[in-house]
Amino acid sequence: MPNPPWWVINYLKGGSRKTTTSIFLAFALAASGEDVLVVDADHGTQGVTDWASRVYATPDPEGDFLSLPFDVVQWSPQSGLLVPFVQRAAKDTGAQRVLIDVGGEAPEVLRQVLVKARLLIAPIGPEEGELSRVPATASLAKAARVPLHALLTRVPAPGKGIARDARRYLAEDEHLPVLQTEIPQDRETYAHVWGKIPPNLGAYAPLADELRMWEAAG
Ligand SMILES: Nc1ncnc2c1ncn2[C@@H]1O[C@H](COP(=O)(O)OP(=O)(O)O)[C@@H](O)[C@H]1O
Ligand SMILES: [Mg+2]
Repeated sequence: MPNPPWWVINYLKGGSRKTTTSIFLAFALAASGEDVLVVDADHGTQGVTDWASRVYATPDPEGDFLSLPFDVVQWSPQSGLLVPFVQRAAKDTGAQRVLIDVGGEAPEVLRQVLVKARLLIAPIGPEEGELSRVPATASLAKAARVPLHALLTRVPAPGKGIARDARRYLAEDEHLPVLQTEIPQDRETYAHVWGKIPPNLGAYAPLADELRMWEAAG
């Protein structure tokens, strides 16, 4: 794959479910046969690296160690410029798609990586405090001409109540495309599996399909 598409997962705010979204999407894309590379470009929190290291440190019932169905590499500023780093890693791993988890407090890293990105996926919770951070992220996407898709995460009830209000606000006031798939608030499915291979991909399975459809159409 000479130029695999890069999907960046970022919202310029901590705790908006970027890492969970990166990992679950990687599992969902790998489950449908894609060779996926996940780049942990959040050198502050290193959530992807933490998740992956925990999986690799877990023995299975036979005493062998588990592995992941996708590749993971970790970037930090000491690794040099991010774009050539990702290009090299994609080539080395033969990835068909690259997912990049960028930290919530790193606009300069986001700016670098958007130069080559196909798509920016922004996980956003439906509360006021999260919604108010849209302009910071949206302005960088716009400057780089990368389509930004809002992903409503940890919504109490998909399509209803505050999820519906948040969707309306993002679409009508902020003029952002909002993905149809919403990720429910559900610690059992999405939080308690941190560092594990999730037995159930929940709403991330239809999300992967929706994103692939969007990509094929765009
Ligand atoms: N859909 C969800 N429902 C409930 N908790 C979630 C959900 N998705 C993620 N979490 C939890 O929320 C916290 C923050 O998520 P994380 O993916 O680490 O965010 P970020 O990478 O943006 O800082 C983690 O403890 C995670 O397990
Ligand atoms: Mg994170």
